[in-house]
Amino acid sequence: MVLRNHATRVIVFFLVLAAVCANHSKKSEEKESSYAAPAASGPGCSFDIVKLGANGNGRADSTKAVMEAWKSACEGAGKQTIVIPKGDFVTGPLDFTGPCKGDVTIQLDGNLLGSNDLKKYKGNWIEVRKVDNLVITGKGTLDGQGPGVWSKNSCSKNYNCKILPNTLVLNTVTNGLVSGITLLNAKFFHMNMFRCKDVTIKNVNITAPEESPNTDGIHMGDSTKISIIDTVIGTGDDCISIGPGSDGINITGVTCGPGHGISVGSLGRYKDEKNVNDITVKNCVLKNTTNGVRIKSYEDALSPVTVTKLKYENIKMDDVANPIIIDQKYCPNKICTSKGNSKVSVKDVTFKNITGTSSTPEAVRLLCSDKLPCSGVQMHDVKVEYGGSDNKTMAICNNAQGTATGCLKELACL
Ligand SMILES: *[C@@H]1O[C@H](CO)[C@@H](O)[C@H](O)[C@H]1NC(C)=O
Ligand SMILES: *[C@@H]1O[C@H](CO)[C@@H](O)[C@H](O)[C@H]1NC(C)=O
Ligand SMILES: *[C@@H]1O[C@H](CO)[C@@H](O)[C@H](O)[C@H]1NC(C)=O
Ligand SMILES: *[C@@H]1O[C@H](CO)[C@@H](O)[C@H](O)[C@H]1NC(C)=O
Ligand SMILES: *[C@@H]1O[C@H](CO)[C@@H](O)[C@H](O)[C@H]1NC(C)=O
Ligand SMILES: *[C@@H]1O[C@H](CO)[C@@H](O)[C@H](O)[C@H]1NC(C)=O
Repeated sequence: MVLRNHATRVIVFFLVLAAVCANHSKKSEEKESSYAAPAASGPGCSFDIVKLGANGNGRADSTKAVMEAWKSACEGAGKQTIVIPKGDFVTGPLDFTGPCKGDVTIQLDGNLLGSNDLKKYKGNWIEVRKVDNLVITGKGTLDGQGPGVWSKNSCSKNYNCKILPNTLVLNTVTNGLVSGITLLNAKFFHMNMFRCKDVTIKNVNITAPEESPNTDGIHMGDSTKISIIDTVIGTGDDCISIGPGSDGINITGVTCGPGHGISVGSLGRYKDEKNVNDITVKNCVLKNTTNGVRIKSYEDALSPVTVTKLKYENIKMDDVANPIIIDQKYCPNKICTSKGNSKVSVKDVTFKNITGTSSTPEAVRLLCSDKLPCSGVQMHDVKVEYGGSDNKTMAICNNAQGTATGCLKELACL
């Protein structure tokens, strides 16, 4: 009898330890006093995945423990913290769906590794849905373990290819912060934001090899007021891509390379795409990327989309193939059905103080359509020089209207 009681008490003690709650309210103290709850130090609870059964040995599957932590944290009021301590925790898909009662912080001190057993996934690896006031922070890593599955990506050959899991998807998140963490070797995109509002990504490091397929750094669409600040991104595809329905995007202090640069688009591929408005890219460095700053829309765009108020300022190019490029005749893999009828209009784009070197002679390419010319294009102090010695720096400008001041004379094509 005594023994049984003791055993029960030990179990209860561990359960309480798994969720370290600090709640000064009377009711909670009454409830927890019989379990000898840890001292309260502020509102909210903390859930350590190891105390919930996760194993950080780099092999065991810890999905269940992480999901348990999410469920408890999402149900609690006040500030709720999920702690991922040092260690390598393998998981399958993590479905972090809200709405949550309080504000959840994921404290990533260790590493989460995405299982390479693709059968486990229906879609993405980590997907946060319908959550307000989300914080993901720490010095840990979200390791997509892409090298084990990249060979299964057939998207360059097959238009209707199966898409591998994205690492971190924020779907309908309002007021979010992702800071400090590293995203490594995603199977597909590293981050994808959809229907988000007021999200900041700060001091994040995104890394995958140059030859890895579709490993975009950060993609966004249908989102407003997104800031990407002081972040380093080097991957096999776009560093940052800004899709339809993006409004009020601020990219500051970002270093990109290798990869395909900072792109608005692709636009116009699907029906009913929304406009893109108010994009600022400032104090960024692009190193050895295929594009610097790019706006790309399909030649045979289905939807009439307007792209307005884009500002690129203080950007350093280092050996970039196409430093400044507007391409209204984008048509990868020759999938377009008609020619030259772009319905995507580009207005009010400013390039200011863009310097450095290009790896091809054409440092500026403004390839706008004759039916829908680009308008309000401003180039001020654009001084990018071809780094090679076999040719000279040049610009190609078709159907672009605007003004150029203080630019290299070879580039002042407006
Ligand atoms: C503290 O406990 C009370 C009563 O159980 C509850 O109403 C309140 O939401 C809790 N607060 C936090 C921050 O968990
Ligand atoms: C980014 O992460 C990669 C992989 O962990 C590491 O090699 C690199 O040094 C990091 N870069 C920065 C700037 O922190
Ligand atoms: C963009 O973010 C930077 C860094 O936080 C800030 O200084 C700047 O005011 C922001 N710009 C816009 C247009 O929001
Ligand atoms: C630059 O990119 C090219 C291919 O895009 C690659 O072969 C080369 O190693 C890169 N150079 C540096 C210095 O990273
Ligand atoms: C131009 O941009 C560079 C960064 O690429 C910056 O160091 C420099 O101060 C800027 N010049 C002006 C006049 O703002
Ligand atoms: C210089 O570059 C232009 C544009 O890329 C190209 O058409 C031309 O053949 C090049 N000239 C030489 C001498 O390589």
